[in-house]
Amino acid sequence: MATQTPAVSENTQSTTDNEFTGGVTHVDHPLVQYHVTKLRDEATAPPEFRNSVRCLAELMAYEATKDLPVAKSRVQTPLAETDGVTIRARVGLVPILRAGLSMVDPVLDLMPTAEVWHLGLYRDEATARPVRYYDKLPVKRPVDVALILDPMLATGGSVSAALTSLREWGVPHVKVLSLIASREGVDVVASQFPEAQIYLCQIDPVLNDQKFIVPGLGDAGDRIFNTVEPE
Ligand code: PRP
Repeated sequence: MATQTPAVSENTQSTTDNEFTGGVTHVDHPLVQYHVTKLRDEATAPPEFRNSVRCLAELMAYEATKDLPVAKSRVQTPLAETDGVTIRARVGLVPILRAGLSMVDPVLDLMPTAEVWHLGLYRDEATARPVRYYDKLPVKRPVDVALILDPMLATGGSVSAALTSLREWGVPHVKVLSLIASREGVDVVASQFPEAQIYLCQIDPVLNDQKFIVPGLGDAGDRIFNTVEPE
């Protein structure tokens, strides 16, 4: 389902092995492509848009959690006792407000015991630099694995700011789940945070003058929350 893409340049080998090493994973699958196409389509209304985000978040989380450690357990079925597992890692979901909120519930459905720690960042329209307006990360007891959730990685500034916060918190293993990214932004994040595992459904070639991903899908937050201002 996943294909490997170079993390920084065509000469750099990325990895998707299960040892928590960093790199870029392109989550590729017919259903992923179908839902990315729905997101791209300007005719897709917010309810359908949110549904495709939800589907993609689940598909990505499935791929990104392949290496989660489990502990053996026993379970009693209606007929017999048998082997089972529990998730051994303490997992934290870190949605970047506000668009990242749309990915929390589908991932929580898969991992109901995960913790959710919110980070508020918006991109300054003039500079395209991230502005931090809310930080709910604690200072102690970092989670074992954090999943940064944000549908878009454009310049990479917002994800880099989140990765910096998680470094400061001391999280040993960080995964970034973004639905769509620019090639330029991925390269920036992968080179500055080589230890991070980055999962993407789509990598687009260009950022325009306003630092929007092209062809992209517009502004995910506005399309999710139906806040597109009329022309
Ligand atoms: C968007 C998006 C990312 C960020 C990506 O958020 O959801 O957080 O921009 O851009 P970057 O990679 O250049 O930092 P936005 O600032 O529009 O805020 P919103 O989620 O409130 O819509």
